[in-house]
Amino acid sequence: MNLADLNKVAVAMTANGKGILAADESTGTIKKRFDGIGVENTEDNRRDYRELMFRTAEAMKNCISGVILYDETIWQKAKDGTPLVKVIEQMGAIPGIKVDEGTKPLPNCPGELITAGLDKLPERLPKYYEQGARFAKWRAVIDIAAGIPSYTAIHTNAHALARYAALCQQNQIVPIVEPEVLMDGDHDIDRCYEVTEFVLKETFQQLYIQRVPLEGIVLKPNMAIAGKKSAKKASVQEVAEKTVKMLKACVPGAVPGIAFLSGGQSDEEATAHLDAMNKIGNLPWNLTFSYGRALQAAPQKAWSGKAGNVGAAQAAFNHRAKMNSLAALGKWASNMEKAA
Ligand code: 13P
Repeated sequence: MNLADLNKVAVAMTANGKGILAADESTGTIKKRFDGIGVENTEDNRRDYRELMFRTAEAMKNCISGVILYDETIWQKAKDGTPLVKVIEQMGAIPGIKVDEGTKPLPNCPGELITAGLDKLPERLPKYYEQGARFAKWRAVIDIAAGIPSYTAIHTNAHALARYAALCQQNQIVPIVEPEVLMDGDHDIDRCYEVTEFVLKETFQQLYIQRVPLEGIVLKPNMAIAGKKSAKKASVQEVAEKTVKMLKACVPGAVPGIAFLSGGQSDEEATAHLDAMNKIGNLPWNLTFSYGRALQAAPQKAWSGKAGNVGAAQAAFNHRAKMNSLAALGKWASNMEKAA
């Protein structure tokens, strides 16, 4: 492992004013998104849609540090025959790859999940590196409901994340470590804080046990936020203050950067929360975005599967990328949304 080079990539992924485009929806997940805009889930449509984002030059060059791809996309060619990985590289962004194989029920833990995909990872990682991937992503899922999460689920998922991270670094690939505490429940922000704190503490303990140098990872956490069905929504300022407090208590300063998932927040909420945290400032790591839905919902809607809408979709993607880039610097304001 060359840790200095891993660190360079991790620093570039979370560089000032830049964040990550999570375009790694599995074929099943992108079907849900396409269903929402009335687009058939074919290989060509998936290619055309992703290609339009990767060719949005302004956003890609100024706001996007890296793109997380799904296995299909990393081998795919653009309409003109250029590999999509090359399109991304030509824009100055770093290609990355989702390597987990989704979740399975965790035995003896009703309602809880474990992320699969460790078994063949040592054979898969060198092939992804050769194809251009310089970072990877593995998502662990922790749900909050009555009686859960259990320590069994937190421990087992943190252990898998650390095993994945060690394997990535051994293959000169920066692991995005993503322990996602879902915001699907009716819990309030303090319950989310309590669970996420536990999950992050356990994750960093497991990373230590697996001897993963933190200078060569990027953390992708959820924010401290109330569940979507909660009767008590937290203000932007409360989310920002509690998330920063939580991260400071759990994430060593050796980690170069933290890139949040959006997790079902609205586009503007995801931007406002990130901005408010960076306005607090004086943080030991760079704080940025690694959004899927909060970057893509607007361009998806604008595109709706029609070649004639590509320009409008690119404008929508460019706008969201720019808003989030400003938020990563703490320089966003809500009137910038209206101006557009
Ligand atoms: P969302 O921003 O839509 O949560 O997706 C980010 C991601 O990569 C989840 O694994």
